[in-house]
Amino acid sequence: MNTACGLLLHARLATLADGDCDLLDDGALAWRDGRIVWVGASRDLPRAFDDLRDSATDARGALVTPGLIDCHTHLVFAGSRADEFERRLRGESYAAIATSGGGILATVRATRAAGEDALLAAALPRARALLADGVTTLEIKSGYGLDLATELAMLRVARRLGETLGIGVRTTLLALHALPPEYAHDRDGWVDFACNSLLPAATGAGLADAVDAFCEGIAFTPTEVRRLFVAARRHGIAVKLHADQLTDCGGAALAAEFGALSADHIEYSDAAGIAAMAAAGSVAVLLPGAFYTLGETRRPPLATLRAQGVPIAVATDLNPGTSPLASLRLAMNLACTLFRLTPDEALRGTTVNAARALGLGDRGRLASGLRADLVLWDVESVAELVYWIAGPRARRVIAGGRELGSNAAP
Ligand code: NIG
Ligand code: FE
Repeated sequence: MNTACGLLLHARLATLADGDCDLLDDGALAWRDGRIVWVGASRDLPRAFDDLRDSATDARGALVTPGLIDCHTHLVFAGSRADEFERRLRGESYAAIATSGGGILATVRATRAAGEDALLAAALPRARALLADGVTTLEIKSGYGLDLATELAMLRVARRLGETLGIGVRTTLLALHALPPEYAHDRDGWVDFACNSLLPAATGAGLADAVDAFCEGIAFTPTEVRRLFVAARRHGIAVKLHADQLTDCGGAALAAEFGALSADHIEYSDAAGIAAMAAAGSVAVLLPGAFYTLGETRRPPLATLRAQGVPIAVATDLNPGTSPLASLRLAMNLACTLFRLTPDEALRGTTVNAARALGLGDRGRLASGLRADLVLWDVESVAELVYWIAGPRARRVIAGGRELGSNAAP
């Protein structure tokens, strides 16, 4: 079917409508013009939707969830860092590789050398892998250009990916990711450039939906990040933060102070930082792919997040250095096995809470009026969805009421 109208019958619906994962057995869901118009029991479907019955799909009891939302990726880049994978296997640390000129800067060199079309071509298969696995909205960060032209090129490519694939893409200007070689001896100069040139150019061109930074011992200090966030506030653009991934830098509290949409990683965040996030309504985005890849041992403070009622999201962090992971379903599995999330928390983390981490109120749940983004899975329960480690499980993926696959074809 390639129309923006449709009807699904006899599904096990995980609507997430009240934020919980209770299933509606033998449920029906109708959509018109890309929006959900009715959700309820199959037997209660009003006559007003009879015109959709001819083309209805019988889900035969399969689980149906909202389209998954990957709320933290670095999907646009050139090259790979497989060599660093081998170096780490031989015992070198991520931090040591980064300070020796590898790490993020290795990808910056490859990304600057690639043209915009080559960046798009490299990113498309990664995005398609996510889509095939149930993702209908994707966040993509810049941060591998570290000069004006390449940062803007990355954001344009991210927008083109959304148009090409027929899915929602949110773009984030990752303005403080690493110090570019041109500014190796002028940290302040780079932060000035990020605040006074990069940020206005990206927002002025309508290319960025949010601004992000990497607050870490090997990256940028809280004082430097604060300057960027003050500038972001002046431009009226939302902020997000790579916070407390490898050390406790006070990143969670800093993000909360600026009302960040999310603080991401947060393995080392302390209780005060988490309490500040709860008060600010910032989402905790957990990134188990990076934790796994780097062989980290410090888990995010899950008990404190739960006790404080901080919304928890889960994302792939798809990037060439620390998380070469193009499956959000596997990220959900890792979040459960490594961080001890429940399967229900993992599903909330890739739907309703992920939408919130992107500031999107029109998706992440199955309810009338929201976008018709949904996935029909070849499983019967949320636990089964999360427990399979690999292998295809998405039977149909529908974004904006249209079947992906037909849209996603080259
Ligand atoms: O989210 N933390 C910084 N950025 C990425 C890693 C980027 C890289 O190593 O290329 C992350 O883990
Ligand atoms: Fe990241």
